[in-house]
Amino acid sequence: MARSKIALIGAGQIGGTLAHLAALKELGDVVLFDIAEGTPQGKALDLAESGPVEGFNASLKGANSYADIAGADVIIVTAGVPRKPGMSRDDLLGINLKVMDAVGDGIKQYAPDAFVICITNPLDAMVWALQKASGLSPTKIVGMAGVLDSARFRYFLSEEFKVSVEDVTAFVLGGHGDDMVPSLRYSTVAGIPLTDLVKIGWTTQERLDAIVDRTRKGGGEIVNLLKTGSAFYAPAASAIAMAESYLKDKRRVLPCAAQLNGEYGVDNLYVGVPVVIGANGVEKIVEVALDETEKAMFAKSVASVKGLVEACKAINPALA
Ligand code: APR
Repeated sequence: MARSKIALIGAGQIGGTLAHLAALKELGDVVLFDIAEGTPQGKALDLAESGPVEGFNASLKGANSYADIAGADVIIVTAGVPRKPGMSRDDLLGINLKVMDAVGDGIKQYAPDAFVICITNPLDAMVWALQKASGLSPTKIVGMAGVLDSARFRYFLSEEFKVSVEDVTAFVLGGHGDDMVPSLRYSTVAGIPLTDLVKIGWTTQERLDAIVDRTRKGGGEIVNLLKTGSAFYAPAASAIAMAESYLKDKRRVLPCAAQLNGEYGVDNLYVGVPVVIGANGVEKIVEVALDETEKAMFAKSVASVKGLVEACKAINPALA
C-alpha cells in the first residue's frame, strides 16, 4: 500500500515540529510548504537527515509551489503570523485572513480530497474562512484547539492531584479564546468527575477555578515566556493526534473546532465541540447536555467567535 501524504502549509515553528512528529510516527511522506524560500527545504533536509539515526521511513520534501501538495491525504495549516507579546489572537485577524484565502485556493486546486486541520489563529474564525476559501465539505475541515486546550487542562490537573497525565481526562468546549469552557463535570481523574473530587476533599473549588483560569490563558502564558513567538510543541502534538485518528480510522472522540449546523443551537459557525474523527473526517458531532452555567459560558464563547467572523466579513465582504 502506498504511503499516505501529509502536506504542511507553513514551515515555521509548528510546521517543523509537525513534520518531525509525522516522520517519527511514520504517518506518511511529508511535504513542507512555505512562502519563505529555503526554510521548508532546509527543515525537510535536516529532518530527513535524522531519519537514519531515528530509523524512520518517510520522505520529507520542502516546497514553495502549491503543485507539490497535489494528492495530499492530510493537510495541516499553520501558515500565517503568530502572536507577539501584548497581541491578542484577534489582532492577527486581518493578516491571517488573507493567508487563508491563498491557502484555500491552493487546496481547492491541488488537494480537494484532503482532510484539512487548521491551526492558524484566531482559530475559529480562520478555519471558518478556510472552509469558505477552499470550498471543502465541512466534514473534511476542522480546527485544532480543543485537543491543545484540554491537554493543558489535563497537565495542570495532573500536577494538582499528583497523578499521571494518562489518568486525567478533560473536556473543553467553545472557541479557542479566553472564554473557552473547560467543564468540571465532564473532566475526570480515572473517571471521577472533578466536581466529585471537590466533594471528597481532594481539591477545592477555588483551586479548580484557578486551574480553569490558567487553562484559558494557557497560550498567553507561553507567549509571555518565549517573547519571540507562541507555543509549538503541544499544538503540533495535538494536530498530529487528529491526523492520526483520520489516517488510521481510529474514531477518536476529540474536541475540535467543527462547523455547527444547529448543534448546540449554533448555525454556520466553527466552534469547539467533541467530534468523532474517522476515515470520513468528521463522523459525528457529539452533543452533550449543558447545565445553565455551562450554557451561559458557551453562549459567551460563541458570541466572541461570531464577533470575529463578522469582522472577517467586514474585511472581505465576499465571505458574507
Ligand atoms: N503561505 C504559506 N506560508 C506562509 C504564508 C502564506 N501565505 N504566510 C506566512 N507563512 C509562513 C511563514 O513564512 C512562517 O514560516 O507561516 C509560517 C508560520 O510560522 P511561525 O511564524 O513560526 O508560526 P508558528 O509558531 O508555527 O504558528 C503558526 O499557528 O498557533 C498558530 O497563532 C499561531 O497563527 C499562528 C500559527
